[in-house]
Amino acid sequence: MSWHSSVPAADVLEQGSMGVEVDGLRLALFALDGEIHATGNICTHAFALLTDGHVENGCVECPLHQGLFDIRTGRAQGTPVTKDIATYDVRIEDGIVWINTEGRAVSAVEV
Ligand code: FES
Repeated sequence: MSWHSSVPAADVLEQGSMGVEVDGLRLALFALDGEIHATGNICTHAFALLTDGHVENGCVECPLHQGLFDIRTGRAQGTPVTKDIATYDVRIEDGIVWINTEGRAVSAVEV
């Protein structure tokens, strides 16, 4: 297990989404129904930050070509995106979001 602290959970819940750099990775935190989810922040189609996109119905829409990803599963929802984004386990400890970066997938781009 490789857990890393990131940002206050309250900030993510208030803003709805937030990009973070953890363990050399660009990750995205999204608030959905009062829970926080972590995914890769780089679109698998081209270079765009998903946290610059729009969140609706549990999906994030890429700001560049409007590809959709399910935030909970990372699943690409159809063209132009065909490759899923990575998802990561999250836990909240003393109000801070901790992210487990083990098992990261190819879409999590190192910074
Ligand atoms: Fe995200 Fe094209 S860069 S859909």
